[in-house]
Amino acid sequence: MTNPELPHIICHMMSTIDGKISGGDGVDIMSDEFFGLYTETEDMLPPHTAWMCGRVTMQMFASSQTLPLPVLSRQIEVTDHIAQHEEKLYMFGIDTKGKLRWDKNSIKLSNVNNPLHLVIVVTKSTPKEYLQYLQDKNISYLVAGDESIDFPRLFSSIKEKMEVETLLLEGGGLLNGSVMAADMVDEISLLMTPKVANRGIAQSLFERKIEEPLDVTNYELIDVKKMAKGCVWLQYMKALQ
Ligand SMILES: NC(=O)c1ccc[n+]([C@@H]2O[C@H](COP(=O)([O-])OP(=O)(O)OC[C@H]3O[C@@H](n4cnc5c(N)ncnc54)[C@H](OP(=O)(O)O)[C@@H]3O)[C@@H](O)[C@H]2O)c1
Repeated sequence: MTNPELPHIICHMMSTIDGKISGGDGVDIMSDEFFGLYTETEDMLPPHTAWMCGRVTMQMFASSQTLPLPVLSRQIEVTDHIAQHEEKLYMFGIDTKGKLRWDKNSIKLSNVNNPLHLVIVVTKSTPKEYLQYLQDKNISYLVAGDESIDFPRLFSSIKEKMEVETLLLEGGGLLNGSVMAADMVDEISLLMTPKVANRGIAQSLFERKIEEPLDVTNYELIDVKKMAKGCVWLQYMKALQ
């Protein structure tokens, strides 16, 4: 049972048979071939109003120009900023170092009719120049944590401020691994493609940045479907402790 103060989090990903989601050196090993099936399975998931991705994935929606940030010209309080927006759907992008630049404050996904309001996830250590930049672009941001992201706080703000009931966590591995480490992945929806990457540096579905004790989380299989192109769609729910 999901905590009523948090959104229900479904980690929706595609992987090789050996659980890899990318080549590990920026080489895409699956998307082109299986993206249609990935969105098809996403569309069959329970109703959802939010998506969350890491900084590298967000780059594909960002401006291609990486201009320097304007100097700080006013006082910036390091608190959540909700910009004016009409959208009822949300894209949460992790960018705690303030690397991405934006041309607009909404994102259009090919399989979703309506645009998503862009919300950047930052921490108290994110440069204030970046917060000023986001405000000037009418882009929302949520502040969660001092140096590293405080995921319980982040998801609680997402539920409270954006009224998100169900959120799709769509990687990559560091982001998924951090949310897993916070014990907040309620479901896993995995499109397994008939490939093997066979490479240690290739990124796995869940990655932890630092060496920590083994922490196995149990899931129960709730559905399995044979899909086109030799794929299998697996759906798991977190097992009751
Ligand atoms: N197969 C699939 O279904 C699938 C889905 C999504 C993505 N991918 C692939 O996965 C690869 C990487 O994806 P990604 O960028 O979305 O995510 P990621 O590998 O989890 O993280 C990439 C960056 O996002 C920021 N980040 C992630 N977790 C963070 C945390 N807990 N705290 C602070 N910052 C965090 C960091 O940015 P900084 O470096 O700026 O600190 C990090 O280097 C890409 O090659 C993408 O194509 C595959």
